[in-house]
Amino acid sequence: MQFADVVAKRRMVRAFESRPIPSAVLDRVLDLARRVPAAGNTQGLDLVVLEGEQTQRYWDASLPVERRAAFPWPKLLDAPVLIIPVSWPAAYVERYGEEDKARTGLGESEDSWSVPYWYVDTAFAAMVAMLAAVDEGLGALFFGQFEHEAAVKNALGIPADRRPVGTIALGYAADEQRPSASSKRPRRPYEEVVHRGGW
Ligand SMILES: Cc1cc2nc3c(=O)[nH]c(=O)nc-3n(C[C@H](O)[C@H](O)[C@H](O)COP(=O)(O)O)c2cc1C
Repeated sequence: MQFADVVAKRRMVRAFESRPIPSAVLDRVLDLARRVPAAGNTQGLDLVVLEGEQTQRYWDASLPVERRAAFPWPKLLDAPVLIIPVSWPAAYVERYGEEDKARTGLGESEDSWSVPYWYVDTAFAAMVAMLAAVDEGLGALFFGQFEHEAAVKNALGIPADRRPVGTIALGYAADEQRPSASSKRPRRPYEEVVHRGGW
């Protein structure tokens, strides 16, 4: 697909077919997702990938069985793959304490960072994964873990000092989609968003 078509076609998919993603296709998506820019080239990014039955470990930690009947997007749970992009704040603090970066003062602590670039870099990877998914004929949903972050980390053995930024459900889109309330909000017009030459 043309790049502009990939970007234009990408919309969040919240209902999936359960058919698996061929291994080579998934590998291509993951390989592209790790080829993102990174502040200080720190690369404090990890991708936890769950396939097939493994996805149950995620759902068991984040959506208790008794709440599933009332869950408005039941076919989200059919997604054959879940990707959890995980950021590593301490790696950025350490990197910016190195000689070529020390003058920034960002090597002192996480609190020194006005913009936490570990989340920026990890979000870049999530975006590339979603665009690569569209290019492969797949659909994806990025969604938050919110109050379930600790349970998800525990279930998947994610180290305590790492921060998952959310979850990407990946798979072939089901024919019928149920949009969220958010996705019905109109896109802000170009003229309103773009400030050429200054605000
Ligand atoms: C950081 C982030 C968090 C999101 N969290 C959720 C979520 O928890 N549940 C959900 O259904 N969609 C979630 N979304 C999807 C947004 O609702 C969606 O991107 C937005 O409505 C625009 O629709 P589109 O992506 O289909 O163009 C999230 C998107 C982003 C970027």
